[in-house]
Amino acid sequence: MNKNPDIDLTPAREAVESRGRRRSSLIPILQDIQKIYGYVPRPAAEMVAEELSIFPAEVYGTLTFYAQFRLEPRGRHIIKVCQGTACHVMGGKDILDYLSGRLGITTGGTTSDGLFSLERVACLGCCGIAPVVVVDEKFFGHVTVQKIESIIESYRQGASGE
Ligand code: FES
Repeated sequence: MNKNPDIDLTPAREAVESRGRRRSSLIPILQDIQKIYGYVPRPAAEMVAEELSIFPAEVYGTLTFYAQFRLEPRGRHIIKVCQGTACHVMGGKDILDYLSGRLGITTGGTTSDGLFSLERVACLGCCGIAPVVVVDEKFFGHVTVQKIESIIESYRQGASGE
């Protein structure tokens, strides 16, 4: 499946231009590209390799080494499950496992319909309402499996009702 149909590389080329065609600019350029597209599209990664005169394998090596980079687009809704100590103790791991099974994706993955991405995060600073899940910018506290099920359902319905 082609996940990068007709991607416009103009802004990515501008990022290369503004950072300079130096090997030392690789990470800042990739950061700029991720900011532009929300992830680093493969054609952009290959263009960067060409422009910096380095092997594509080196660019992919950098992209896979640093957790900050994504090679696939994220889903429409980003579900973050806190795995900080308080949330972990209060069942955060069970919530994450449940979501992973329910959505059929592992952490960092995106559902095939592009609706949800699943991420684990460290303490979100609101341990008093552990376990905590954040969907996009909205916080949900004292989350249980039943509660997360209805949260997912409400986002699904929101998507189908658009
Ligand atoms: S550990 Fe989850 S909010 Fe602090």
